Amino acid sequence: MASYLQIADDEKGHELDLFCIPRHYENDLDKVIIPHGLIMDRTERLARDIIQDMGGHHIVALCVLKGGYKFFADLLDYIKALNQNSDKSVPLTVDFIRVKSYCNDKSTNSVKVIGGDELSNLRGKNVLIVEDIVETGRTMQTLLSLLGECHPKMVKVVSLLVKRTPRSSGYRPDYIGFEVPDAFLVGYALDYNEYFRDLSHICILNDGAKEKYKV
Ligand code: IMP
Ligand code: MG
Repeated sequence: MASYLQIADDEKGHELDLFCIPRHYENDLDKVIIPHGLIMDRTERLARDIIQDMGGHHIVALCVLKGGYKFFADLLDYIKALNQNSDKSVPLTVDFIRVKSYCNDKSTNSVKVIGGDELSNLRGKNVLIVEDIVETGRTMQTLLSLLGECHPKMVKVVSLLVKRTPRSSGYRPDYIGFEVPDAFLVGYALDYNEYFRDLSHICILNDGAKEKYKV
């Protein structure tokens, strides 16, 4: 079982005033729940765990866009640092896929792949799927079954966040950064209808903002 940092349901978080929050989002957020620095520290350790398990072979890191892009970039920087500073190193290449499953703050039943690289290029490869958050698990299960049809040699999944929710299908990624309460989270590339990707910390969205940015 993957170990992770657990953020409790009664976690009070941190007052917004203690951090730098863009002015345009000041009234939209409840609390900072995971400060950027903590995301980075946990990501550094995930990079080490991944290289320890998957190292030795060429890894194709597959970024699930758009929400995964910050975590992907930072995780790969830490993997690069390990490659540069140890006797053993593994070649790393990158691929991108774009999926969409959310409208407002609700997961929809249809998970759509709406662009990106050809998955068939991944035949015979060791693939690391990099995702921002697993909620019901449907997006990842759909992606894993699509990828399976392309016969990669190995597939591992790393998700920065996993939500504790009764809506979960039971799916768990191989590597998990944090397990988080059942709230709608934004920041560090996680969005609400495309907003809040330009916020460094992971924060809880307030109800007013859900209305304000609703589509
Ligand atoms: P799932 O298919 O229900 O597991 O949802 C996965 C996708 O929904 C993630 O890749 C996110 O893009 C999106 N998502 C789920 N929960 C949140 C959230 O709290 N904030 C932002 N996006 C979310
Ligand atoms: Mg995502």
